[in-house]
Amino acid sequence: MTQDELKQAVADAALAYIQPRLESETILGIGTGSTANLFIDALARIKGQINGTVASSEDSAQRLKSHGIPVYELNTVDQVDFYVDGADESNRALQLIKGGGAALTREKIVSAVAHEFICIADESKLVHTLGEFPLPVEVIPMARSHVARELVKLGGDPIYREGVVTDNGNVILDVYNFSIAQPLSIEGKINNITGVVTNGLFALRPADVLFLGTNEGVKALYAQ
Ligand code: A5P
Repeated sequence: MTQDELKQAVADAALAYIQPRLESETILGIGTGSTANLFIDALARIKGQINGTVASSEDSAQRLKSHGIPVYELNTVDQVDFYVDGADESNRALQLIKGGGAALTREKIVSAVAHEFICIADESKLVHTLGEFPLPVEVIPMARSHVARELVKLGGDPIYREGVVTDNGNVILDVYNFSIAQPLSIEGKINNITGVVTNGLFALRPADVLFLGTNEGVKALYAQ
């Protein structure tokens, strides 16, 4: 199967997983990226079965609206029942690196609120140790050089993602050559650097279930 077919399979698997649990009041959190886009397109088929969604990016909000799926501001809803999103990397504990699409902060906010976080990814995303994918860090623009120096002290090689401004008006540093053996500790340390908005490690709030697309079919992995 191609990577696109694997992504389609996990998007469909996530929909099949949540569909029996949907109620007319259900609010879904929606991630960002090519895999999340396939989930949005699948969701359009059953949009009448939910109340609406909260989006993790302007791009996803636009795609949801183009299908006629209601999109709410997070502050106006009481709960988010499920959050469905892709990932750039996952380990077996379902700790993730996200933010390849620069939407990490809103993704982290919506996933923090969600009752259940369903991650969907093709098998190329499963790794033993996080960090082969450069770790995105969202930074207040005036703090960019300061944060970069602090990230070097932590052992990484930060590179400014030129030309990218996040939905929140900030910039991204991608941290290369950063093997992350202790994701919980690193997530906290980076978030404590003054000027960091958030980083793309999802270890404090890992996924609850990962639907992994493989050539042998979709496998469900659960947080241990
Ligand atoms: C967006 O900022 C990211 O966190 C995406 O969820 C991640 O990059 C996965 O994207 P794909 O589904 O396009 O691989």
